[in-house]
Amino acid sequence: MGNEADKYVPQAYWEEQHHRADLSAVGQVGLSSQMNEWLYRAVRINIGRFLDRNTVLPVERALDVGTGTGFWASFWHGRGIRVVDGSDLIPDAIKRLRAHPAGPGEYFIADISNSTAFAERQPYPIVSCMSVLLHVTEDECFASAIRNLSTVTAYGGYLVIVDAVLTRDSRPRRRASVASSVARPLGDFVQPLKSHGMQLVDVAPAAVLASNPIEGPLVVFWALQMAWWWLVAIDRWLPFMRNVAGRLLLTLDVALASTGFAPGTKVLLFRRVTDPPAL
Ligand SMILES: C[S@@+](CC[C@H](N)C(=O)[O-])C[C@H]1O[C@@H](n2cnc3c(N)ncnc32)[C@H](O)[C@@H]1O
Repeated sequence: MGNEADKYVPQAYWEEQHHRADLSAVGQVGLSSQMNEWLYRAVRINIGRFLDRNTVLPVERALDVGTGTGFWASFWHGRGIRVVDGSDLIPDAIKRLRAHPAGPGEYFIADISNSTAFAERQPYPIVSCMSVLLHVTEDECFASAIRNLSTVTAYGGYLVIVDAVLTRDSRPRRRASVASSVARPLGDFVQPLKSHGMQLVDVAPAAVLASNPIEGPLVVFWALQMAWWWLVAIDRWLPFMRNVAGRLLLTLDVALASTGFAPGTKVLLFRRVTDPPAL
């Protein structure tokens, strides 16, 4: 019998997800689009504060890799970046964004792990890759994706990564039941990016309650898991309570994230400090 992890075929999986054409396609697949909007709001606030803290200022152009519904392209426009380009593996997602762009910019199809993905792009002063790398489950593809992200970031520019990053563990972790993602230790991001001329500037929680817990003391892990099940139950069985639960979750998440408590998804900020090595 094949391993569960063998069953993840990115193209087919994401084509299917994108049929939903809303945030539930790219966020938490088990939750409604309405509840996903609350989760995204919380993460947007956390990341906005993180960037403010690190004085990441508006620039002329940015690239959002694995842009999905264009949520983060829109975020960058909202922070004063005029031109935001976006790429994604799935043609339908790109088609939809071209029909309804978040603002000025070009949307194009690219597999982040393909060596020619950004070959024709001028490096950008800001590149984001939000909740994409955890879905690049093959190690070779991940290495290639990291290389592509580094070469498309301009000298002095920033790379913002949101991902399932383990800060306590030194080995990647796959959940047998979830073949489409893998949580990787911080070093798996930092070491290869360093060898490509990029320095880690900061790490912080991107979400606390608004993402699945991936690490931490068992008791915290279970408490968060229970909070998560409550959220799923309200979303499914008490839809009229979604906004109340969503608002509460947002308030708690932002408060917890501001303490630095990070049992789930993290945001990493890298800066290009030297030119990448010639290939
Ligand atoms: C979890 S969603 C996140 C979407 C968006 N970044 C966000 O945070 O809302 C992952 C996105 O990555 C895209 N994706 C998956 N594998 C990819 C790959 N190998 N290359 C480029 N995009 C990929 C999917 O189509 C999907 O839009």
